[in-house]
Amino acid sequence: MTNPSFPALSLVADSDLAGIGDLDIDDVLTYLHRDLKRLPGYMDLYRRYLRQRWDVYELDFSQDLVHWRERMTQRERDAFVAISAGFHHGERQVEVELPVFMIGGSEESKIYMSSQIEDEARHTVFFDRFYREVVGLPGDSVQEVLDASFAHVSETFVGPFGLLAYQADELRRDPEDAAARVRYGTTYFLWIEGVLALSVMKITLTYCRQRGLLPGYYTGFTATCRDEARHVQFGMRFLRDSVREDPRLLLQIHETLRTILAINSATSRQLELESLGWTPEEVKRLMIRQLRMKLSDVGIAIPPDIQEKIDRIEPELAGG
Ligand SMILES: [Fe+2]
Ligand SMILES: [Fe+2]
Repeated sequence: MTNPSFPALSLVADSDLAGIGDLDIDDVLTYLHRDLKRLPGYMDLYRRYLRQRWDVYELDFSQDLVHWRERMTQRERDAFVAISAGFHHGERQVEVELPVFMIGGSEESKIYMSSQIEDEARHTVFFDRFYREVVGLPGDSVQEVLDASFAHVSETFVGPFGLLAYQADELRRDPEDAAARVRYGTTYFLWIEGVLALSVMKITLTYCRQRGLLPGYYTGFTATCRDEARHVQFGMRFLRDSVREDPRLLLQIHETLRTILAINSATSRQLELESLGWTPEEVKRLMIRQLRMKLSDVGIAIPPDIQEKIDRIEPELAGG
């Protein structure tokens, strides 16, 4: 783990797409967590979005295609496709399910949320391009490429995204229901983005960087991770402010975490990630660390039964 100095973090904040290809994922994760302690406001995050927005069509995957065919083994390609498929479908799902969350917020949060919906749409296009141009999946439309990658989606995707779909339906009935908004926010911003997505980013980007592979993917996914910093900071701000306004909402976070961790422990099939250089124990430690950092930085206290469940987290990978 690097210990980035302040210049490294301002490089993360200010790099254009060409410069992002040189960033280290650990610096992007440190950048994300540093701001969790002070949690920027929604309009600050919106301004940051305008500066950091990148063009997904500027990415060049031609070198990635050569690496994919000539420098990666079949096992590495299989693991990479499996772990990315959960992201491909996760991005698409949050892109279409965020508008319901946007309806019930303040004007500032609606303005910010318009930027997150655009980010998630752009991330969907990033994976669409990766699967077409590098992996070589067939399909003329976005839907056809999604259908082709669905065969690679693992069981670990179904639990959290099924729960999110249910919670989005709940919100559709009453978009202003504060308890339903907190349940949705816990699953999406805290677990899917704050734990699962960041873990996948760390695993695949470390693999690419250490072996000098897939520069187009590395650049686009690191830029995606910087977008994720804004999403997680927005989400943690939302959860913190919700509990400050009505302390009873803390119970909604706890109940949702219990459900999420129960789903996690029911997973029967583990992803094979050793070919990417990660043991199940390392993935587990990474996920626990990601969750603990969010909870403690934002000051969300949790009771002992949830602490125990966190200690028993199973590796689970998807994102959005
Ligand atoms: Fe996101
Ligand atoms: Fe995303």
